[in-house]
Amino acid sequence: MPSYLLLTSLPLANMCYAIPGKITDFDGKKVIVDYFGEKRYAYNEFKEVKKGDYIYAQGGFVINVVPEKEAMEILEFWKESFFKLREVDLRLARLEGSGVAGEKTRIILDKALEGRKIDFEEYLYLLSLEDENDMGYLFKVANFIRQKHHKNACCVHGIIEFSNFCSSDCLYCGIRKSNRTLERYRMSEEEILQTVREAVSVYGFKSIVLQSGEDPHFDADGISFLIRRILKENNLLLFISVGEVGERGLKKFYEAGARGVLIRFETSDKELYSKLHPRDALSYRMAEIRAAGEIGFLVLTGGLVGVPGQKNEDILKDIFAAKKLCPEMYTFGPFLPHPDTPLSQNQPPAVELVLKTIAVLRLADVNGKIVSTTALETLDAEKGRNDGFMAGANSLMLNLTPEKYRGLYNIYPGRIHEKETVKHQIDKAIEDLQKLGRAPTDIGLR
Ligand code: 5AD
Repeated sequence: MPSYLLLTSLPLANMCYAIPGKITDFDGKKVIVDYFGEKRYAYNEFKEVKKGDYIYAQGGFVINVVPEKEAMEILEFWKESFFKLREVDLRLARLEGSGVAGEKTRIILDKALEGRKIDFEEYLYLLSLEDENDMGYLFKVANFIRQKHHKNACCVHGIIEFSNFCSSDCLYCGIRKSNRTLERYRMSEEEILQTVREAVSVYGFKSIVLQSGEDPHFDADGISFLIRRILKENNLLLFISVGEVGERGLKKFYEAGARGVLIRFETSDKELYSKLHPRDALSYRMAEIRAAGEIGFLVLTGGLVGVPGQKNEDILKDIFAAKKLCPEMYTFGPFLPHPDTPLSQNQPPAVELVLKTIAVLRLADVNGKIVSTTALETLDAEKGRNDGFMAGANSLMLNLTPEKYRGLYNIYPGRIHEKETVKHQIDKAIEDLQKLGRAPTDIGLR
């Protein structure tokens, strides 16, 4: 059986927790872990472990064994705050506000709460809500369901954008090949290694995404070599996000030790996809994502919300197309017009549409993680991130790209956190999450 099937069949394998857990038993290749009194499972491929060991797991994989003394210190630190945070989260996730929502909204959301099937038209009704009370109740229900199935765990991954060279020409994207005004950069292998090293040893990241445009300079062998070098010196769950590399390329990444792939399909509408990606086809993109899952990667995928020519119905179809790909994590962010692209004259979507997308996604898949995206934060700098969390999201990505390059990874303008140090981003993330009672379980405590 491919390992992704094993993984998806584990009840809580997709919980990530950078707070160490203690191995209480074995179940084949899985370890059973005690985590604040709860039983969790993780898939062990990389480490020699025995009963009684303390481990870190990410995305359901054991990535590191922690010396007992260190583990006890961390657990001691967390013990009190962990349960306090849970109380805050539980309080904020209470269901109220149903009284002011319209009858049809309440009837549909009752179905969600009772785990009954919601049909396409009903989902579309939710995605098209305009009334503030109705939308407010939709977000409440989505957050309630998030709490019920995921508790207050929040994954915080780091992303390193190592090259903005791109041979693709996606109409919406600022780093598209035809944007000749953009200064291009490519980090050296040493720079990438140094960035990872710092993220892991100074900031305690346990999970990192390596992202770039479709840069011909880095072929699948080159990236695999890099993956090996990174994993040789770091205990890390590594996601690769470099566009399409084909099944052979993906297999090379897997053999080198990467266990995640981040690739959006952007839109699941064939015609819209062709318009936005003149030389590419949706079928190839979907085949690539399916192949990643079949090989055993954790898949992060999703689409753009509010791209020109898209209807609410299309967004809903995107949600179901994403669900069919069994992702570990969903990433749906707003389209933001870039001045140096053919779509410069278009408008971004309303923030509410992005939040409704997150909420409907949460109802459609109670198990998947959902990112509150940087694009959503950019659309609404003040509230976007936390509103995403209060509408069903439970994951975050912080930008680890060295500051001198970050502004050049200019996929859309005015990207938030462009000039903030990693330390500042972490402090702000912890502050935001604590307010909401979420435990930032993927940031270490060094
Ligand atoms: N607005 C929002 N997201 C964008 N992306 C690229 N260009 C834009 C834009 N103008 C997203 C794409 C891609 C990811 C790396 O960045 O969805 O998958």
